[in-house]
Amino acid sequence: MIDIAVIGAGRIGAVHAASVAAHPGTRLALVADPFGDGAARLAAPYGARATTRVEDVFEAADVDAVIIGSPTPLHVDQIVASVHAGKAALCEKPVDLSLDRVDACLAAIAGQEHRVMIGFNRRFDPSIAQIHARVADGEIGPLEQLTIISRDPAAPPAAYVAQSGGIFRDMTIHDLDMAAHFLE
Ligand SMILES: NC(=O)c1ccc[n+]([C@@H]2O[C@H](COP(=O)([O-])OP(=O)(O)OC[C@H]3O[C@@H](n4cnc5c(N)ncnc54)[C@H](O)[C@@H]3O)[C@@H](O)[C@H]2O)c1
Repeated sequence: MIDIAVIGAGRIGAVHAASVAAHPGTRLALVADPFGDGAARLAAPYGARATTRVEDVFEAADVDAVIIGSPTPLHVDQIVASVHAGKAALCEKPVDLSLDRVDACLAAIAGQEHRVMIGFNRRFDPSIAQIHARVADGEIGPLEQLTIISRDPAAPPAAYVAQSGGIFRDMTIHDLDMAAHFLE
């Protein structure tokens, strides 16, 4: 059994908590979010502990792995803290909006990069996985051109635009991952 902590009890944190709780090989041990009762509300249905002190995650002896679902500017520090605490980390995309910060993150965890996975979930989407398998099987012959179109189902809230930089800054990294996935 792998005991997992979720950092950030927002939109994506709730998705991860539900996935951890649903998987037979994982247990939701702890939810951390500094604001309000978000952590407590997310943890309660799963019987997990909750804290408003994020450092508790890195200090908890019973936490094997960390899922980082906090706002993007916090990802680098929380990746580094997780790895230095000896825990595996699944961090939401993007790692950071600054390449210098991403490079600094890699330098800080040098030799332990294998402990970190980034939330490029589209690779695991059943419809995309099926297309990938069919391309790999040679169904359409050699891949000569890859066209990726991404849309959100509705206009985003103003708060998302203000903090994320909008759909192109926040989500094009998914398209770059898709391109790498299909072309590698
Ligand atoms: N892979 C995907 O498809 C996908 C989808 C949605 C979001 N994301 C990414 O997930 C991240 C979070 O997005 P969201 O939509 O869940 O945002 P959100 O605003 O709904 O949730 C963020 C949560 O983090 C908490 N938080 C704030 N400061 C914190 C801190 N210092 N430590 C820990 N938690 C803190 C907030 O209180 C909030 O509950 C973003 O980086 C976003 O790009 C990825």
